[in-house]
Amino acid sequence: MKKILKNAYVLMSADADIKKMDILIDDDIIVELSDQMYIEDKEKIEDKYEIYDFTNKLIIPGFINTHTHLAMSLFRGIGDDLTLQNWLFNEMFPREDLLNDDLTYYGSLVSILEMLSKGITTVVDMYLFMEGTARAVKDTGIRAFLTRGLGYDNDDGWKRRIDETIYLFENYHNKYNIKVGFGPHAPYTCPMNKLEEISELAKKYNTFTTIHLYESVNEREMYSIQEIEKTGLFKNNVIAAHCVHVDEEDIKIIAKNEVTVAHNPSSNLKLGNGIAPILKMLEHEVNITLGTDGAASNNTLNLWEEMRLASLLQKSNGPEKFKTEEALRMVWENGGYALNEKIGRIEEEYKADLAIIDLNNFEFYPIDLNRLKSHLVYSPINKVYATMINGEWVYYDGEYPKLKESDYSGKFHKLYFDLEKKFKKSKGE
Ligand code: NI
Repeated sequence: MKKILKNAYVLMSADADIKKMDILIDDDIIVELSDQMYIEDKEKIEDKYEIYDFTNKLIIPGFINTHTHLAMSLFRGIGDDLTLQNWLFNEMFPREDLLNDDLTYYGSLVSILEMLSKGITTVVDMYLFMEGTARAVKDTGIRAFLTRGLGYDNDDGWKRRIDETIYLFENYHNKYNIKVGFGPHAPYTCPMNKLEEISELAKKYNTFTTIHLYESVNEREMYSIQEIEKTGLFKNNVIAAHCVHVDEEDIKIIAKNEVTVAHNPSSNLKLGNGIAPILKMLEHEVNITLGTDGAASNNTLNLWEEMRLASLLQKSNGPEKFKTEEALRMVWENGGYALNEKIGRIEEEYKADLAIIDLNNFEFYPIDLNRLKSHLVYSPINKVYATMINGEWVYYDGEYPKLKESDYSGKFHKLYFDLEKKFKKSKGE
C-alpha cells in the first residue's frame, strides 16, 4: 500500500532548506513531495493509503555508513589501548579463527539493530563468514554492500576466499537488498599481483571493491599508491577506507581515479592512527564519505558521532574551513554517489530510505528551522523515532517490525561467552 507521511519538517538534502512537506511513497520509491498534498475524501484515502501524521518530527535521508565490519560487535571492548598491529594480530585475528556463520549472524544482527535505531539505512561491510551476515541483512531489511575480506597466505587459502566471494555473489547479489563486491583487506595483506586479479574479477562481475588504505603510518614503508594504480584496481568503483597517511601525490591519484574515501575518525583516533587530511582531499575534489569501522575499534556504530567528530577535527584548522553541510553530504549524497544508488536524498524517484526524528529531544531544542541542521551535526541524539528502508519500516518507536527472532540477546551472549572461553583455551590460559 502507498504511504503518506504528513505534516513533518523535511530536509531533502545537505544543501536544501528545511520545509514542511508531505511525502508520498509507492512501494520502495518516493513518488511525490508536496508542501500541501491534495487530500480527497478522508474515508476514501484511508482505503488506498497508510497515513502517518508526523507533526513535530523531522524527516531526513537515511545515513550511509561506508565502512564497517558488522560481526565485530562480538569484539566490542577488546584491546582498548593497543596499536593497530598489536590489536589486529594478537586480539582480532586469533579470535576470527574461531568464528562461524552462527557467530557472524548474531554479531551482524546486533550491529544492524544498533544502526537502524540511529537512522543508518545503508552499510558497506567487509568480513568473513559472510553468509551469516547476509542472513542478518535479510532478516532486518538494511541495505547492504557486502564483501568477503580477502588476504593472501597461500594459494589454497586465497582460492578458497575468492570462491567464497563468488558463492556470495551468485547467491545474494541483487537479492534481499544486498549487493556483493570484492573486499581485498589491505595492500599489506594482498600482494600487488593479487590486487591485479581482483581488479579483473571486479570488472568481470561489474561490481564495487572496498579496501583499507594507508590506515597506519608504517604502511607507507610497505607499498605505494602508484603501485596500486598500476594493478588497474582503481579503474573499478572503489571505496578506500581511512587514507590517513596519504600525501599530496597520493591524493592526486585518488582524485584522478575517482576513488571514494571512507573517513572513520573515531576508529583512526582510537587506534592511534591519526587524522586523515580531509581538507586537502576536499581541495582535490575527492568524494569523502563517513564510516564507523567495526564496533571493536570505535566502539559505537553511531554515524551521528562520526559527523560531529569529523567536523570538529577539521575545524581545528580554522572554524570556517569545514561547513555544516559538508558533514551532511558525507553521510548522504556522497555515499549515494559512491555506491551508484538513488539514495542519500529525499527526492522524487529516489529510494524511500528515511530517518524520522522526534523533535521533542532536548538535543534538538530550540526547535527552530534555521538551527536544525546545526543540531543534526553538532548535537547528536542516540536514537531516532523511526527508520524506513525501501518504503518499509525497519525500526519504529523502539520496535523492529521485520525482525522475527526474539531471543537475539540471549543467543548473542551465549555464543560470545563460548567464543571467549575457546580463545582463552587456545592461549593456554
Ligand atoms: Ni576497517
